[in-house]
Amino acid sequence: RTVYVNGQYLPEEEARVSIFDRGFLMADGVYEVTSILNGKLIDFAGHAARLERSLKELEMAAPATTEELLEIHRELVKRNDIDEGMIYLQITRGNPGDRDFAFPDPETTPPTLVMFTQSKPGLAANPVAQKGLKIISIPDIRWGRRDIKTVQLLYPSMGKMMAKKAGKDDAWMVEDGTVTEGTSNNAYIVSGNAIITRALSNDILHGITRAAVLRFAREAQMEVIERDFTIAEAQAADEAFITSASAFVMPVVEIDGAPVGTGTPGRIALRLREIYLDESL
Ligand code: PDD
Repeated sequence: RTVYVNGQYLPEEEARVSIFDRGFLMADGVYEVTSILNGKLIDFAGHAARLERSLKELEMAAPATTEELLEIHRELVKRNDIDEGMIYLQITRGNPGDRDFAFPDPETTPPTLVMFTQSKPGLAANPVAQKGLKIISIPDIRWGRRDIKTVQLLYPSMGKMMAKKAGKDDAWMVEDGTVTEGTSNNAYIVSGNAIITRALSNDILHGITRAAVLRFAREAQMEVIERDFTIAEAQAADEAFITSASAFVMPVVEIDGAPVGTGTPGRIALRLREIYLDESL
C-alpha cells in the first residue's frame, strides 16, 4: 500500500510517526473515514465539514485545506487502485518532541496528518445486509464529547470484543436508559412507517451517513422522528438498523437475544440501503 504522511506518499513500510506524537501519548487526535464506491469518494464534503468542526472544537490546527485533503484522498485512491473500500484520515496535535499535558504551540508543532486506504471488494454487495446483525447492549461509559470524532476508540473496541465473545456482531450503547449509538455507527428503530433515531447532541457522533439517510427517507415520504428510545422499545419495534460510512445501512435482527420484528432484515432498512447505494453510485 502507498500511504500518506505529512506531505509524502510512501510505501507503508517506510511511513514513520514519532514516539512523542500526541496521538500516541494522549489520544490527542481526530479522524475521518470515507467510503469509496466505483473508485469514487462518497460524501467527501460532509466528512471534510465534520473534520473541520472536530479540529475547531479541540483547538487543533488544520494541516491542509479541504481542497488539498480532497486531492490527497483522490491521489491515494488512484495510487492504490481502490474500486471499493475505505480511506482513513488521521490528524493529531503533532510531535512536540517530549511528553507534556499542555498543548504545544501550533507554530512550532504542526499537526501530524496520516492517510491510508483499505481495499474492500464487494463492500456494496455485502451479503451481511441480507442476514442482518445480532447485537448486544452495553453501558455507554465514553466521555461527554462524542460529537467530536476523536481517536479515543478503546471503549468502542472493547464493546466490539464484548459482542464477539457473546457470539454477536456488534453492540449498542445505553446511557440513562436510552440508546446513544452503536460502537461505530448510529442506531435506528422503525415503528410502522416512522424511522426513530436519537436527536443530535454531544451524546453521539453526527453521522454523515445518518444525515444522508434521513434526507432520503424524508424524500421517500417516510416519517423521521428524532428522539431517544430504549432497548425494550427497540426489541418490540418492527425493524432496527444502523448506519455508518463503512456499513451504509445495515439491518439489525436481534437485540440482547430477542428478535426484532420477524427476526429478519426489515423492508424499510433494506429499502433505505438500496436508495443510499443508488444515490451514492
Ligand atoms: N465510525 N457513531 C460512531 C461512534 C462512529 O464511530 C461512527 C463512524 C458513526 C457513523 O458516522 P458516519 O456515518 O459519518 O460514518 C456513528 C466509522 C465508520 C469508523 O470508526 O470506522
